[in-house]
Amino acid sequence: MDNVPRRYSRAGPFPNSIRSRRSLQFCVVAALVFIGAGVLFLMFTGNKDAQATRARITHAVEGLLPVIREGPVPAVLPGGDDLAIQVLDPRGRTVGASPRLLGHPPMAAFPATGHPVHAEQVLCPPAGLRGCMIVDSYKVDRPDGVWLLHVAVPQSPWYGSTTVLAFVAGASLLVTAAVAAGTFRLVNRDMTAIDAIREELAEINAADLDRRVPLAAPNQEEISLLAVTVNDTLDRLEQAYNQLRRFTADASHDLRSPLTAVRTRLEDALAYPQDTDWPEMTAAVLAGVDRLQAIVTDLLTLARLDARAPLTPERTDLTRLVDTELDRRPRRVAVVKDLQPDVVADCDPLRIARLLINLVDNAERHAASRVTVSVRADESAVTLEVLDDGAGIAAEDREVVFTRFARLDAARNRDAGGTGLGLAIAREIAEAHGGTLTIRDSDRGARFVLRLPR
Ligand SMILES: Nc1ncnc2c1ncn2[C@@H]1O[C@H](COP(=O)(O)OP(=O)(O)O)[C@@H](O)[C@H]1O
Ligand SMILES: [Mg+2]
Repeated sequence: MDNVPRRYSRAGPFPNSIRSRRSLQFCVVAALVFIGAGVLFLMFTGNKDAQATRARITHAVEGLLPVIREGPVPAVLPGGDDLAIQVLDPRGRTVGASPRLLGHPPMAAFPATGHPVHAEQVLCPPAGLRGCMIVDSYKVDRPDGVWLLHVAVPQSPWYGSTTVLAFVAGASLLVTAAVAAGTFRLVNRDMTAIDAIREELAEINAADLDRRVPLAAPNQEEISLLAVTVNDTLDRLEQAYNQLRRFTADASHDLRSPLTAVRTRLEDALAYPQDTDWPEMTAAVLAGVDRLQAIVTDLLTLARLDARAPLTPERTDLTRLVDTELDRRPRRVAVVKDLQPDVVADCDPLRIARLLINLVDNAERHAASRVTVSVRADESAVTLEVLDDGAGIAAEDREVVFTRFARLDAARNRDAGGTGLGLAIAREIAEAHGGTLTIRDSDRGARFVLRLPR
């Protein structure tokens, strides 16, 4: 894995891996939510505890006030760690107290004021006690003077008890961790599907273009769509690549045959100069060179059409163009013109002339006695038709003949001169014009129809 380039290697850790980032983001959001909810919950329980504390103070005070008013006050009052009580006589002596405060000086020194005669303070700690406590001081008027009642209870923190705090913190931590783990699992599942696609793609090269990336699970629709799109693209690439490979092989093969023939003739002539009919040999070599030239010229034309070199469309009188091209040279068979006058089309006249010649040359070669060329126009299209009275083309071959170097057996036997590129070029020209070139049914012979949109 070491020498695999970075862009092919597995995604790294934080901060760039989607897995880590998503998990962290969800973790942070979950933590914030739980902290917020936890604080609210703790405030609620803290408030409840504070209310309970207040109730305990009130309860204790309500129980003691009558005792103090009526006397006598018992020396030992009820109370424990969480409830401290002191009763002071008008001279400030501790007359009665809960067990912890027996014999201690007053726990608080702030005066009970106002009406009702009551004051409250938090002391940390009150004299003789430990920790922070809420101390309530009450004035009790008696005939012998003002008595004081001090009641102290431990101050409960805002969060209530430590147990609740620990429980809430622990639960938040656990759930946050669970959310992070769950997010990682979910994201990891998607990312694993994407990794599988990437790993497969990284390994595909020209030698195994038939490989396809794995499809994701049905509930990962976006990733499935990605995989399907990638595979469709691979399909098209494979098709284009195979076509190119076939084309190169066919081109090499078609160039090699005449080249070998020429070479053999030349070698023979050099080996046996006296036995050679030089004019005849030269003519044969020239024929071979002609054929090579024809193939190379066609290949070049196709390469230009493939490169989608811009057309130079101009308003062309198609009727006149066809008329002139057909008169250019005498034909082996009769050529019948069926031309509607003044059919005008926006096209590249040189290219359309080339297309027409390719069709008419073929028709002439295959016709028994007659070739009919017609030009017509309707609202939507301009139609050029080349019909012969030869053997025609079987329905299953009607697309095949347009592929490069395709030559049907009958044609190969009849005439070795063709390159098999004429119809491929003609169709490219038609498509470059936004039109179509097809073979249609006819009573007899082949019927090629070019349609150019108006
Ligand atoms: N008018 C026609 N009648 C019968 N077959 C035809 C006709 N035109 C073309 N074909 C077939 O289509 C093949 C491809 O034609 P084309 O691409 O022009 O190549 P080429 O003419 O060099 O053979 C021909 O070899 C022939 O088999
Ligand atoms: Mg041809």
